[in-house]
Amino acid sequence: MNENLPKLVFATQNPNKAAEISRLLEGCFVVNTLADLCHTEDIPETSDTFSGNAHLKASFVKNKFGTDCFADDSGLEVEALGGAPGVFSARFAGASKNDAANMQKLLDALGKETHRKAQFRTVICLMIGEETHFFEGIIHGHITRKAKGENGFGYDPVFIPEGYNKTFAEMAATEKSNISHRGIAIRKMVSFLRERSI
Ligand code: IMP
Repeated sequence: MNENLPKLVFATQNPNKAAEISRLLEGCFVVNTLADLCHTEDIPETSDTFSGNAHLKASFVKNKFGTDCFADDSGLEVEALGGAPGVFSARFAGASKNDAANMQKLLDALGKETHRKAQFRTVICLMIGEETHFFEGIIHGHITRKAKGENGFGYDPVFIPEGYNKTFAEMAATEKSNISHRGIAIRKMVSFLRERSI
């Protein structure tokens, strides 16, 4: 029964991310979110690295609620832009976190540049008992010249993963999560937790 399973708090306000990870941890952990703890404010993400921000969010939850928890931070790194937008991916075109404006700013910044290699990266910070562990996922690809596809979010319509000829936004959710940075990092954490709970 679920009541007997250990609980893990996922420091996110995003119900889709929480549902995806709950499915992967089914039968092993019960995943609660900040909403389950009635915490509705954003947790500050002031670090200049993904691992720093993931650690800030997980530590916030651990200190405030004393529970085992994890947090993630992700973004897009474009080689020709020296790794930008990186940790500023959500706010690249301003504080309103507008996906369309972010994508347009990216396409404008690249202009006719032919070197369009990029990667998405996710880092998860897990705090369990007295231990802290990090899990990373990276997917390499390139930035298109025009947005294509209706699915997903963020920069999905302008990112084609290596070995594919369609954007993330042209993929079904499961096809994307089988190869995505987030999927890779999540599966690393899930195998770690499943091995520990045997
Ligand atoms: P988060 O840390 O997962 O919330 O991601 C921060 C920002 O990075 C998002 O708001 C998006 O702009 C971008 N991003 C992260 N993951 C993805 C993805 O899978 N597709 C498209 N954009 C993403």
